[in-house]
Amino acid sequence: MGLAAEYFDDGSSFLAIDPLSINPDALAEFSLFERYPPRDGVFRFRCLLMDTSAIDKDRLLELLGNWEKIYIHKKEAQAYKAYVRENLAFILNHEKILPKQKTDTLVALSTEVVKDSFAANFSSQADCVRVVENIRKLIAKAMDFISGTESLNGLASLIGHDYETHTHSIKVGWLTATFINSNRDLFDTGGVSELRELMIEAAVAGFLHDIGKIKIPQNVINKRGRLDNLEWIIMQSHTAYAASLLFESRLSHTAMQTIIYHHENEDGSGYPCGLANDQIPLMAKICHIADVFDALTSERPYKKAKTPFEALKLMAGDNPYLETLRKFESEAADNIKPPLTAIVRDDYEAKLRRLREREMLEEEAEKRVEARVKLRDKGMSHCFDLDLLRRFIITINKSESFDLAGLL
Ligand SMILES: [Fe+2]
Repeated sequence: MGLAAEYFDDGSSFLAIDPLSINPDALAEFSLFERYPPRDGVFRFRCLLMDTSAIDKDRLLELLGNWEKIYIHKKEAQAYKAYVRENLAFILNHEKILPKQKTDTLVALSTEVVKDSFAANFSSQADCVRVVENIRKLIAKAMDFISGTESLNGLASLIGHDYETHTHSIKVGWLTATFINSNRDLFDTGGVSELRELMIEAAVAGFLHDIGKIKIPQNVINKRGRLDNLEWIIMQSHTAYAASLLFESRLSHTAMQTIIYHHENEDGSGYPCGLANDQIPLMAKICHIADVFDALTSERPYKKAKTPFEALKLMAGDNPYLETLRKFESEAADNIKPPLTAIVRDDYEAKLRRLREREMLEEEAEKRVEARVKLRDKGMSHCFDLDLLRRFIITINKSESFDLAGLL
């Protein structure tokens, strides 16, 4: 990019990078600089390597091991980003790179690819295929790291933050793939490559499980409070929208089913189809558990995050008010606000009466929504396959970051 061999700069034009992220087997098309101590707030940056092809591989390895920090010019930040994306497997499998740095790198790249898919318009088949392929490529490179229980420590560090759709999707994919890796006996796969393929499918499904939300109005998605009944019905349609958006994506049958059915409950009270027990595909059941676990352990404007222990206790707990809860849930579809036009066309007296009625109806509906949520928080075991939930707890408990003793 025509960079000079030396710069005097306050540091703002350069980025520090980890020398270990440079793969000696892959040529880096950007320059590496070292930084000298500042004088009057100005650093000297001296170019070490214009490109890594200019040096013998063993010598390069030796140099990379000696440098603690190296720098790149911001003009070449995009080239470095593309390089990291290309060499992600090298970085994630590097023995000397710290797990935290691996997690940060993976989360940054995954967030980018998920954001890109949420911004896609899916207007053509080429668009659909591109979105899925980009995610698949990234996950395939990260699969050894993602599916290993060691990476759970990194994942644990992401639990408990504010709810954010992109990060949530990444965590759900990550948890689902880890689950499969630790519970291979559940899957009828012939060999290692089939299992790996299955884990990739699961992670892709996790990354895309809420893609249908791009079709839900923003004021429903971003509402700072409980959804009313109409909003709740609209929100539920994200599973059907996902099916529609990804219809031409060439996504596998398993991944597609996972995305469509990740809100089905074991007792048939879920959506979109009200499937129960064995009708629900295995991968969708696992994705459902990962989804609820991450949602409960994330902070929302209207509720505090639960600890992993509290969340799993709630998920595994029997609900003593199940009958009443089911009644509220089935009423939700009938308790939709009357359309405004019905009020405007009336005469004044009738208008006032109707408005009052509507207010009462809304108050009532609001109370019921509150009650429904409160009742649900008394126990959710009816939503999940309990054997899978037990296995999920065992799986994530392999990381010392989750203290789940007492749940098993
Ligand atoms: Fe969802």
